[in-house]
Amino acid sequence: MSDEPKKPFYITTAIAYTSGKPHIGNLYEIVLADAIARFMRFSGYDVYFQTGTDEHGQKIQDKAEAAGMAPQTFVDMISGEIRRNWDVMNISYDRFIRTTDPGHMAKIQKIFKRYYEQGDIYKGMYEGWYCKPDESFYTESQLIDGKCPDCGRPVEYAKEEAYFFKLSKYAKRLEEYIESHPDFIQPESRKNEMLNNFIRPGLKDLCVSRTSFNWGIPVDFDPGHVVYVWIDALANYITFPGYNPDGDDEPSFKKYWPADLHLVGKDIIRFHTIYWPIMLMALDLPLPKKVFGHPWLLVGGGKMSKSKGNVIYADDLVHSFGLDAIRYYCLKEMPFAQDGNLTYDLIIDRVNGELVNILGNLVNRTMAMTNQYFDGVIPAKCIDEAMDSDLINEASTIFDRVSEKMADLRISDSMQLILDLFRRANKYVDETQPWVLAKDPDKRERLGGVLYNLLEVIRISACLIRCYLPDTGDKMLKMLSCSDDSMESCLSFGLLVSGTKLGASEKLFERIDPVKQMVAVEEYLANKPKSAAEAANVIAAAPATEETNENPPDEGSYITVDDFGKVELKVGKILSAEKHPDADKLLILKVDTGEKIRTIVSGIAKYYKPEEITGRTVTVVANLKPAKLRGILSEGMILMAEHDGKLSFVASSDDIPAGGSVR
Ligand code: MSP
Repeated sequence: MSDEPKKPFYITTAIAYTSGKPHIGNLYEIVLADAIARFMRFSGYDVYFQTGTDEHGQKIQDKAEAAGMAPQTFVDMISGEIRRNWDVMNISYDRFIRTTDPGHMAKIQKIFKRYYEQGDIYKGMYEGWYCKPDESFYTESQLIDGKCPDCGRPVEYAKEEAYFFKLSKYAKRLEEYIESHPDFIQPESRKNEMLNNFIRPGLKDLCVSRTSFNWGIPVDFDPGHVVYVWIDALANYITFPGYNPDGDDEPSFKKYWPADLHLVGKDIIRFHTIYWPIMLMALDLPLPKKVFGHPWLLVGGGKMSKSKGNVIYADDLVHSFGLDAIRYYCLKEMPFAQDGNLTYDLIIDRVNGELVNILGNLVNRTMAMTNQYFDGVIPAKCIDEAMDSDLINEASTIFDRVSEKMADLRISDSMQLILDLFRRANKYVDETQPWVLAKDPDKRERLGGVLYNLLEVIRISACLIRCYLPDTGDKMLKMLSCSDDSMESCLSFGLLVSGTKLGASEKLFERIDPVKQMVAVEEYLANKPKSAAEAANVIAAAPATEETNENPPDEGSYITVDDFGKVELKVGKILSAEKHPDADKLLILKVDTGEKIRTIVSGIAKYYKPEEITGRTVTVVANLKPAKLRGILSEGMILMAEHDGKLSFVASSDDIPAGGSVR
């Protein structure tokens, strides 16, 4: 180990709006940042990883009102939920910040005043179109079909006194900076987009205060104005590490600024590569080294939205599939520059195909063979150059190869390298056939050597896997009774100590039965308690976080009469009911719906005995796509009313016969 002080590495994520519970797309960004932070720590850097919540603005004020709460109480609740979600995903942030922090707010007031006093900000009159969800003003010519050019929602005409930032003053300097620092905006395609679509055509002055609401940081020298939420939010990257607008910055700021990496979604790259650098130039501060605009995670190929009902939350996924399975999916499945996709089928496929078949399989069989042939004691090294050099070479070079990919932020590619090493080791098992060696007492030494090599591949990989899947990496090291997880030890093959007793074997990942799993997921989602923050996503007056981006929004959470007309509801009579042989919660019903007798599998066994409901009149969703539930084809769904854990059938009076329509 050298005595040199560690090199600092400052990484940030975007700070999430406290408008509702974050979905798996928001969490993808945080998991990505976490893997990078862990990898940099492992590589010997002094890492500072900052994340947190963005808590001001009209959108949040509206949401708090809709929830019947004071804004501060509302953001306290949502910020707590966001932090809980980060913790569920095992995020190793060094600091979780909140923009309602009084220290931050005081610094923003001073920064704003400095801009004003040095002539970067001036007072004027704003007249134009305002998009509430985006908290942004637009000119008539910027609108697209009369709607917000960024998010496609309706805009309102507004005229108000406001402060403006002279972006144009810094445009030339920014352009030169971007051109002379090829790494500043990544991926490359985003850099060209910023230069060609925004900077070169000319930057308009930016409206940086609001008077139409008050949930923001007051402009202290002009009551009634609050600071534009993006000025407040972007500056978090300097205020919290210890920037001091009065001079004499804290040592931590001197150490970590400029940030090495701002990791943000593609939708907010403009804010981070135009407004933010100009804000810093105006403060005479150096610019961050890199802004990486990551792609988006889509669900079933589309954007998540509450009106589509396809919003997936990270904690629900972790509940159903396990933490490291979901971390793996986010990190391995997401491409470098194009949007990635998430479906339950794909998660199951990756767990079974990669985590169980490749990673789990190698660890299981290596542990099992060492237990069986050597009583669980790590055998002695015995290298056969001809057979082993390829595997040893791959394992000895894995850290350097992974580092190269990580330096380019190609996280998925770096994980692929580790997976390939596991594939290679599985092939080595087939090539060396330890079970054949075990039959010949003369080959015992060689058998030991083969198992040693496999255990050593597992040890080296475990050190790296800990950066992506911390729990899995820890379990692997524990199985090897290995406490040395340093980078130095990861670089050298052959450090595992022969004669050491292995720890207890543990299954790393369980194979998933797709059908059973989907029934379990549906049951869980239908019955899980909803947190207040999740409820806020539904009751919100303003559109939810996930809709505040460049994709066209959905038309609120209403459905039209035509949408409703698509659901065919019929009066049904339950002819018989019996318990599902394979599922405690399900009953199998025969229901007369006029045109036919249907089999309907219903999750009501906890509430009703079969004999209690025979003869009952019910309402059936008759055109629901038939689906197998625990092996039995269900041809519809029974409507139930629910309150406080009590269930009751939704039914017409008994004089409407089976088959009657419900409208
Ligand atoms: N509050 C601003 C950021 C201010 S940073 C100084 C904001 N918040 S957000 O809650 O809307 O988004 C937080 C991050 O999540 C952003 O980087 C955004 O791009 C990202 N994502 C939101 N939906 C996403 C996906 N579906 N997939 C991946 N990332 C997504 O913007």
